[in-house]
Amino acid sequence: MKRTNPPVSESPPDSRAAAAPIHARPAHEADIPALTPLIVRLKRLNEEFDPMLKVRVDVEAQAAAVLRTEIKNPKSLVIAAEGLGPEKDKVIGVVRAAIRERPFYMPEVEGVILDIYLLPLYRRHGAGQYLVEHTIAQLKERGAGIVTVEFPSQNEIAGRFYAKCGFRPITALHARIL
Ligand SMILES: CC(C)(COP(=O)(O)OP(=O)(O)OC[C@H]1O[C@@H](n2cnc3c(N)ncnc32)[C@H](O)[C@@H]1OP(=O)(O)O)[C@@H](O)C(=O)NCCC(=O)NCCS
Repeated sequence: MKRTNPPVSESPPDSRAAAAPIHARPAHEADIPALTPLIVRLKRLNEEFDPMLKVRVDVEAQAAAVLRTEIKNPKSLVIAAEGLGPEKDKVIGVVRAAIRERPFYMPEVEGVILDIYLLPLYRRHGAGQYLVEHTIAQLKERGAGIVTVEFPSQNEIAGRFYAKCGFRPITALHARIL
């Protein structure tokens, strides 16, 4: 399969990688069947937090299409998380992130983590934090001077998780259904 993802480095060969609880690598088109259900699970979880995040009936097709586009887009980052040892080659998590311009603020280039999802069995072992640091390093390599994250306001675990990763709220998105 031809590699279409932008040139994202594999996990760095440093001591942190040696202790990594998972393996993070750029996603390829061949990963889409494994990544799509993870994105769909996350969107359904978001719906549980807030009815304003009600998922579309065609969510699976949309997730596959979005992944297909983003894997080819140099301004996007799709990372597949694999287990280690016997779990090697099993996709157990995903991150979607993107590079955005900030026309009015400095730093001028922002990396945004749009989605992060780990299968429940792989949570609470530091894999989430490892994935976030890995993603931030990739976004920094692409010029980001600041990194932001998006998650439903009602997802308190995500709030605690990102606070532990050093994030704090800067803007709020409020919605009203029409
Ligand atoms: C959010 C998520 C990626 C975190 O991954 P994880 O591997 O479980 O997180 P870590 O083990 O790296 O935890 C780091 C810190 O986050 C916080 N945290 C993580 N899960 C938590 C939980 N269930 N309850 C309270 N705090 C939690 C803790 O401060 C934790 O540090 P500690 O273990 O020293 O207490 C994972 O829970 C997940 O995939 N959740 C479902 C999807 C989701 O909600 N995504 C975020 C919105 S897009």
